[in-house]
Amino acid sequence: MQSALNPNGVTITGTGFYVPTSLLTNLDLAASLDTSDEWISQRTGIRQRYIAETSTETSDLAVMAATDALHRAQLSPEDVDLIVVATSTPDYAFPSTAMLVKQKLGSRAPAFDLSAACSGFVYALSISSDLIKSGAYHNVLVIGADKFSKIMDWQDRNTAVLFGDGAGAVVLQSRPGASSSFSLLGSEERGADTLISPVTGPITMHGREVFKFGVRILESMLTKVMGELELSLEDIALIIPHQANVRIIEHAADKMNIPMDKFFMNIETYGNTSAASIPIALAEAVEQQRIQAGDIVVLAGFGAGLAWGVQVIQLG
Ligand code: COA
Repeated sequence: MQSALNPNGVTITGTGFYVPTSLLTNLDLAASLDTSDEWISQRTGIRQRYIAETSTETSDLAVMAATDALHRAQLSPEDVDLIVVATSTPDYAFPSTAMLVKQKLGSRAPAFDLSAACSGFVYALSISSDLIKSGAYHNVLVIGADKFSKIMDWQDRNTAVLFGDGAGAVVLQSRPGASSSFSLLGSEERGADTLISPVTGPITMHGREVFKFGVRILESMLTKVMGELELSLEDIALIIPHQANVRIIEHAADKMNIPMDKFFMNIETYGNTSAASIPIALAEAVEQQRIQAGDIVVLAGFGAGLAWGVQVIQLG
């Protein structure tokens, strides 16, 4: 970390998540697409995902996750001094989804969206941590929310089987004496067209290219961050990777000789929820008591751009 115990410590003091109630299983998809439960689960690890109603917007998902995180942090919306929403499926071009979340929560905080696709939550967390360290903000609500169902081509089996809707949120607070947070963000020189969606969709993707990028970048960012911070595997309670495909994580884990149980996976249940995938996984890991206060977690995002980001942070 920037230093082990830092006067500008930043911790996560609350986590929350929300997924819509409408379940879409692989078998449901196979009824209308040339695919099968076996193909999807073997190639991706996904068995089901949740899909929002047409009338439910990304901001609605975000508000539910944020309310959960605030409750767990024992804060009210008035205590929040900044709201950042990572999304690539905003309700509108403007106002930002974050402004809608702010209004629905009943907050007067400044609020803005951040677009970095599946790396969005790590980008948002990194910027928010630095803003806290600067002393400008103290209680930041960082949300990852996406409703990919509205930009899907439901006839395209290459993409329709992969994504789900949802939102996850954390409350990030300054906590002198806690470990400092540390992040590395980056992107590839090329690859912007590898995974792409016009504003109203649909998504198109070169699956194999994205797969190879995922394996290579996950290994590289974990190696870099552990090297820079001189972190051993024992120092890390859990690695929470973006939930894109279980085989991407297995390949990277194998190359690094890291046991799979060091990685938290829930792709089986939710599919790839893009910017929401890491905060949903983080909140579930807390709920399942896989991690607790004081633990150091490593969050690793990658996706369209091609962008990537890794964040090391302590739970408060
Ligand atoms: N159901 C059944 N068959 C399918 C299918 C589906 N949903 N999608 C593709 N296929 C077929 C292909 O047409 C191909 O058939 P062929 O051998 O007759 O030509 C075969 O399955 C293999 O296709 P391929 O694309 O080589 O499979 P793959 O092992 O690379 O898996 C992905 C495809 C999409 C699962 C995989 O490439 C992947 O996960 N990529 C990363 C995607 C991702 O994570 N995107 C988001 C990043 S944030």
